[in-house]
Amino acid sequence: MRVCRRWSLISRPDLPAENLSEKLADWLRATRSRGLRRASIGLRECVLEVGCGHGIVTAELARRARGTVVALDIDPGVLPFPAMDDLIPVAADGRQLPFADESFDLVVFQNTLMWIDPAAEAVAEATRVLRPAGALLALEPDYGAMIEEPDLGLRNTWLDALERSGADPLMGRKLPRLTEEAGLRPRVEFTHVPGRAHSEAIDLLTELPLTVLQREGAEGAREIIERAADSWAIFLHVPYLLVVATH
Ligand SMILES: C[S@@+](CC[C@H](N)C(=O)[O-])C[C@H]1O[C@@H](n2cnc3c(N)ncnc32)[C@H](O)[C@@H]1O
Repeated sequence: MRVCRRWSLISRPDLPAENLSEKLADWLRATRSRGLRRASIGLRECVLEVGCGHGIVTAELARRARGTVVALDIDPGVLPFPAMDDLIPVAADGRQLPFADESFDLVVFQNTLMWIDPAAEAVAEATRVLRPAGALLALEPDYGAMIEEPDLGLRNTWLDALERSGADPLMGRKLPRLTEEAGLRPRVEFTHVPGRAHSEAIDLLTELPLTVLQREGAEGAREIIERAADSWAIFLHVPYLLVVATH
């Protein structure tokens, strides 16, 4: 099931183009799937996704959950799909959820907490709306731990561009502390299996506001990556942290 339309969005730093968001969701699929199984997705009757963006993860949640999925985003423009039986779009701020305490049995964040300032408020709100037996799943990157071999300068560009865009590029490593401080017990995993460097990584990077020099550097890196196609000559890996936290 698709829950969004291609024409509905313009490029923004906090929301990659739909094809890139799909690619990213694909890279993270195995890890997300493991986390969702651990969070007993198949038994969950009321699921909230905070920062649903194009709705790619939403569609997966809707397929796998037993009941209703609420797809929430601060930007009403990303919610063009109508409410369906088991899928309800809501435009709201993750820091002020318009739901009663203990409304959901699973709350999911993917690539979203890094864009919310302060993220602790969104985690506290997610915890408030969780039922006692509920689970919070968060899957966020840690660009500070990015591996780049040989050094193409991409890590520093990414860190700088994300910070200038208002994101926290180190969100991954903060998830355990944030969930613990909200009163939850986090189970923490590093992810995911690295793949060969691909120029789509550069597409993601060049959607961020780069300086002229950074853009030139990124395009130079693209050529090197494309020349190394289908080999491990270039190793690029952004680790993600997966946290499944319960009461
Ligand atoms: C990088 S996208 C992630 C989309 C989706 N979770 C995914 O992985 O494909 C981040 C999303 O978070 C949303 N967002 C940013 N700040 C938010 C907030 N305070 N409350 C709710 N959503 C927010 C943005 O509008 C954007 O759609």
